[in-house]
Amino acid sequence: MARELFLNAFAMNCVGHQSQGTWRHPRDKSADYKHTDHWVELARLLERGKFDGLFLADVVGVYDVYGASPDTALREAVQVPTNDPLLIIPPMAQATDNLAFAVTVNLSHEAPLPFARRMSTLDHMTDGRIGWNIVTGYLDSGAKGAGQGKQVAHDTRYDIAEEFVTIQYDFWEGSWEEDAVRKDRNAGVFTDPAKVHRVAHDGEYFRVNAVHLCEPSPQRTPVLYQAGSSSKGTAFAARHAECVFVGGHSRSKMATAVANLRALAVEAGRAPSDIKIFALATVITAATDEEAQAKFEDYKQYVSAPGALALMAGWSGIDFSKPDLVAAGAAGSNAIQTAAGAFTKGGPAEHRDLDSLAQTVGLGGGGPVLVGGPQRIADELEAWAAESDLDGFNLAYAVMPETFADIVDYVVPELQRRGLFKKDYASGTYREKLFGRGARLEDNHPAARLRKHAAAKAGV
Ligand SMILES: Cc1cc2nc3c(=O)[nH]c(=O)nc-3n(C[C@H](O)[C@H](O)[C@H](O)COP(=O)(O)O)c2cc1C
Repeated sequence: MARELFLNAFAMNCVGHQSQGTWRHPRDKSADYKHTDHWVELARLLERGKFDGLFLADVVGVYDVYGASPDTALREAVQVPTNDPLLIIPPMAQATDNLAFAVTVNLSHEAPLPFARRMSTLDHMTDGRIGWNIVTGYLDSGAKGAGQGKQVAHDTRYDIAEEFVTIQYDFWEGSWEEDAVRKDRNAGVFTDPAKVHRVAHDGEYFRVNAVHLCEPSPQRTPVLYQAGSSSKGTAFAARHAECVFVGGHSRSKMATAVANLRALAVEAGRAPSDIKIFALATVITAATDEEAQAKFEDYKQYVSAPGALALMAGWSGIDFSKPDLVAAGAAGSNAIQTAAGAFTKGGPAEHRDLDSLAQTVGLGGGGPVLVGGPQRIADELEAWAAESDLDGFNLAYAVMPETFADIVDYVVPELQRRGLFKKDYASGTYREKLFGRGARLEDNHPAARLRKHAAAKAGV
């Protein structure tokens, strides 16, 4: 029997996220992103549908590659305005018991100890329902805002990431022993200083000498996500990621990429199943195929072509307001190489005109858009998962929260009927729910080497 799928809702603390222009749809509520209730209601809806997680994207920078200006992004609400994703998690966690939160944080903008503390705090406050999507940034505008002048070269970003995550592991896994906190009222000892260890790191990009500020949280290290698919990005994912987010339109190409990633994980001393792989998809559904198709036609009218092109320009580093520059830009991209690669010779978008490109990207951000009633959608998800060896999907929305409500009401029951989706949550932390084993990282993960004490090594 096919394995059960994992489902994440894919959103961002902004308007429209990956569906440009649909904020104008009369039923879209994504412009309410700035209200806490908006997120609490979404979390409750997702938990009613037994969604595994809410995956929160984040970009700290404005999309100003298109026309060499932020004007289109601002006018069309292309992932701007955008609020901080971490701060909406505690109210959502309080309103739910099982939904997990995988949050994107760009390490290029972070100092090691403050970041380690923020994630440990969230792991405590959610009782171990937190994941971190490790990203390094792609917008020059983001680097400038962070005081770095310009974006660091693509491959160097991964070298920096390698060092940064190693320091994080040391804070999360190594600094505090399991029984460091004694809370001994009689002896007057809260923490045993002998059981708290200094993280001393003198590397190429960071010099750190500090103890972690947080006592051990339920998972210690958050569940680690990654989404890079260049060769450097895939190698990084194979070593570090527990969940990988992939995009693409071809099941066979995705199958090759997934097989490659799992093989690299084995070379890194891990098992192929130590990485859960999620594909981007957008599901537009209703009671029948006809109604779903009508909904799709309705949504499409609201897609903004300039908005979609401004988004793609930021992702790929190619200015789509100047079509003659497209081919040249692709070759020299310092942004997301996979996105840029789509336009180089042999790429899936090589011969597409910009209008059709905008339509492809405009709803859901470029993954497959699956349209149909419950049976058809379940068939499609099942086929994608089987052919590409996927573990689940990150589902983008076209209209917020309607897309997710439709999936909960129409698709989830059908997947459950087929035995492809759980009827109830398993107990435990996010990591326990995903892998059915301990709350802590497996011993074959590079983070485990930094544990300084037997109890943590045993995963207690
Ligand atoms: C589906 C998908 C979602 C992504 N979401 C984000 C995001 O929210 N924030 C971000 O800074 N980068 C995001 N990225 C960028 C990746 O994390 C990565 O930095 C980028 O793909 C560059 O790596 P590559 O050249 O190895 O593909 C995403 C990439 C993909 C494919």
